[in-house]
Amino acid sequence: MCYNEGQIWSGVEALQIGTLTIDPPVLLAPMAGVSNRAYRVIARRQGAGLCVTEMVNANALLHRSAKSYWLMELDPEETPVGVQLAGSNPEVMAEAARQAEAAGADLIDINMGCPVRKVVSNGDGSALLTRLDVAEEVVKAVVGAVKVPVTVKMRAGWDDDSITAPTLAERLAAIGVKAIAIHARTRADYYQRPARWEFIRQVKERVGDAIPVIGNGDVTSPERALQMLETTGCDAVMIGRASFGDPWIFRRVLHYWRYGKDLDPPTAEERATMALWHLQRLVDLKGETVAVREMRKQLAWYLKGVEGSSQYRAKASQLNTASEAQELVQAWLDHARGRAMVWN
Ligand SMILES: Cc1cc2nc3c(=O)[nH]c(=O)nc-3n(C[C@H](O)[C@H](O)[C@H](O)COP(=O)(O)O)c2cc1C
Repeated sequence: MCYNEGQIWSGVEALQIGTLTIDPPVLLAPMAGVSNRAYRVIARRQGAGLCVTEMVNANALLHRSAKSYWLMELDPEETPVGVQLAGSNPEVMAEAARQAEAAGADLIDINMGCPVRKVVSNGDGSALLTRLDVAEEVVKAVVGAVKVPVTVKMRAGWDDDSITAPTLAERLAAIGVKAIAIHARTRADYYQRPARWEFIRQVKERVGDAIPVIGNGDVTSPERALQMLETTGCDAVMIGRASFGDPWIFRRVLHYWRYGKDLDPPTAEERATMALWHLQRLVDLKGETVAVREMRKQLAWYLKGVEGSSQYRAKASQLNTASEAQELVQAWLDHARGRAMVWN
């Protein structure tokens, strides 16, 4: 890092994951039910250096689940893009990785963080943090199956008595994993406890000389993104929930790193345009009924930033058609015109 007067951090270094250069080193987190193709294209356009798909279940993929294939459909505009796979059977994961690579993935990410009961009861996701030998077998199989770089996204451990991430990261770096993303919570923390960034620092200290470490958890603002870099020494930040209704967050982080101040908030017109573009892309991808259902929560996130707009957000949860959604956005825009916009 390099500090200059007038600039907080002028040395924004690209993230190198094997042969892939990720620039800027600000990533969109994989989020099931959220980070679909439309969402990822928006994030890339707003400056995210890399997006990763929603988690794809490797077993379901091999059973030819249409949904799993759909999750792996990629847009040329999002290149480079990672496909995230979940599973704990090495052969199944290797075959799923081959299919993901054939579908155009520039990177395969393995999920070792998902805390959901249905996933861990199969031995997948964060359950792998308790079975390091199996985790290693899975990674070996996947690394051997594909040419693209393989990364792992993990939590810190199962619970406070079992913080396995540093040891696991070290073992995985030795067998060819090209980067570790660490979500600074244990499985037991679920989302209840605040992220503890010391876990990121611990992983960085253990494997930082060998491979890059991507920090994740509770980056809620550009300031927090810089704080994470400074306090943990991580090489990149990954942002999830802070992008809800604020895809500008990626640009904001970069701007803050370069110039030490935040961008102005988007105008109401910019928010409305983004919301409507997102809606249209989702309708194109999923059809009107599903898209509008999914856009309910997204719209509620977009229609923020101006006082007195909670009534519009409440109405978003009752939308059924694209034209109702368009009318709601227009009504919010009329309300917002002339009022000062603020970041959420
Ligand atoms: C709705 C939702 C879905 C998620 N789905 C996934 C997933 O499919 N794969 C994964 O590795 N993490 C998943 N996560 C975890 C996020 O990638 C990230 O680790 C977590 O939200 C913490 O980052 P944040 O504080 O920036 O949101 C999900 C999180 C949310 C909120």
